Amino acid sequence: MKKWLLLTIISAFALVLAACGGDKGSESESADEYTADKPLIIKFSHVTAIDSVKGKAADKFAELVKEKTEGKVKVEVYPSSQLYGDNDELDALVSGNVHMIAPSVTKMVKIDPRWQYVDMPFLFENEEHVQTFFNSEVATDLMNSDQLAANDIKGLAFWPNGFKHFSNNKHPLVTVDDFKGLKFRAQAGQVLEAQFKTLDAGSATIAFGETYAALQQGTVDGAENPYNNFDTMKFYEVQKYLSTSAHGRLDYAIFVNKSFWDSIPADLLTSVEEALDEATTYAQELAADENAKSLENVKASGVVEVYEMSQEERDALKEALQPVYDEFSETITPELIEGIEALKK
Ligand code: LMR
Repeated sequence: MKKWLLLTIISAFALVLAACGGDKGSESESADEYTADKPLIIKFSHVTAIDSVKGKAADKFAELVKEKTEGKVKVEVYPSSQLYGDNDELDALVSGNVHMIAPSVTKMVKIDPRWQYVDMPFLFENEEHVQTFFNSEVATDLMNSDQLAANDIKGLAFWPNGFKHFSNNKHPLVTVDDFKGLKFRAQAGQVLEAQFKTLDAGSATIAFGETYAALQQGTVDGAENPYNNFDTMKFYEVQKYLSTSAHGRLDYAIFVNKSFWDSIPADLLTSVEEALDEATTYAQELAADENAKSLENVKASGVVEVYEMSQEERDALKEALQPVYDEFSETITPELIEGIEALKK
């Protein structure tokens, strides 16, 4: 009786596992099982607008996958936090509820604090420096970390957005003193918190999708964004002053659920990865231009006063933010910080 009961429990458990495995695919599946009418679905969630750098590159990826697999693989792109927002997209990836995300890398602080390299003030010199980093061994090591593997995450590519610039509603930000007493929206993590604290300002972690409302309602006075996010999220409607500080970066990495990815039949996977390579090149070619166009849009809107910071003013900000390095170099690791610095031309 006991043996029968045990066997019944084991069979029931196996059935439940088989049913749950549906969304993650199975190693025995072959490319023949998928057709344009019954495609393999890759769910790709992100938080920015459709016409943002990330939105355009994600749609390009979906288009290329369709073309290269003759519709046997369909990438369903969910933009604008409509499926998952900042707070839950990483958890959704780990649990397999979504297969692919492209977060601003700061958001990976939940898993590995080193991803906050991107927030270290004035670490990157220009776009070329960022691109050299993406192609470097230090970046590859970060992508291949045990921390990602332990969470069943695989990192596939870096996509750029751009340099972040400070904005606010109270007054132009020109000198270090101008930050005193203001409260800024921050993405996540202790480095950004320390950045604002060092400037005698406050900060609050607010999801990207809730930032417009927070600025509108005065929950926070200011924010830091690349021009393209400032433009495509219409933050110019709820901010009065923007300074061209270029004090930090906002870039993305493409992460997939590893179990799901490994279950994609080999020939389809080759085409999907080819599509990702091409979408990555597209994102790299697009980002700087889109950010430049967005700055023009913001200026043309006439509702935001854009202050062009001089090199001396940016240098003063850089010097004031040096304590962030004293506090966080060990956490981010000297290998990574010095590795990035060494890539400057
Ligand atoms: C943010 O929270 O500011 C970013 O995550 C937005 C983005 O570009 O993904």
